[in-house]
Amino acid sequence: KKYKIAVIVGSLRKESFNLKTANAMMAMAPESLSMELLDISGLPWFNEDLEENPPKEWVDLRKEIKAADGLLFFTPEYNRSVPGVLKNAIDVGSRPYGKNSWDGKPAAIVSVSIGAISGFGANHHLRQSLTFVNVPAMAQPEAYLGGAADLFDDKGKLINASTKDFLKSFMGAFEKWVHTIAK
Ligand code: FNR
Repeated sequence: KKYKIAVIVGSLRKESFNLKTANAMMAMAPESLSMELLDISGLPWFNEDLEENPPKEWVDLRKEIKAADGLLFFTPEYNRSVPGVLKNAIDVGSRPYGKNSWDGKPAAIVSVSIGAISGFGANHHLRQSLTFVNVPAMAQPEAYLGGAADLFDDKGKLINASTKDFLKSFMGAFEKWVHTIAK
């Protein structure tokens, strides 16, 4: 079976190191995983007042999440937490009440930061929300990429060899995680 993986990147900027890391990992996807970026850039803010007549972007996002067998998150760290755009996507996907689109999907998290703490705070805040929306996030190995500004060339390609090797082994573990948990 081929498993569909929704790749969710918590940065909207063109030159995002998280996006570059996501692209590098998508390029190393194993045969059994088909990976696709989920676009959250135009997602309207969650507002319960809109629930009865939800914006098309919410409906589309929920459909795309439901269609995925697994989730791969890339998160920057903003003020020791996840960026608002990523939290908003989680909130939109979790509603309406009783129709949580994330429910049960196996996930993994990669935090990417230019700093030395490597997005630890964001990585773990994301785990807190994922636990509540019933997303089993792979516990080990963990992926904290720090010093991200030095890992890529000027075309956005991942050039750091040990990072590449690490991400390959991380992907191998994620593949097993998906095979074990996905329905
Ligand atoms: C940051 N950055 C940051 N880095 C970090 O390691 N811990 C932090 O708490 C923060 N806080 C923070 C807040 C805001 C508002 C911004 C804009 C940035 C720096 C961050 O790691 C850097 O901008 C990354 O390049 C963001 O990821 P992308 O956009 O490259 O994927």
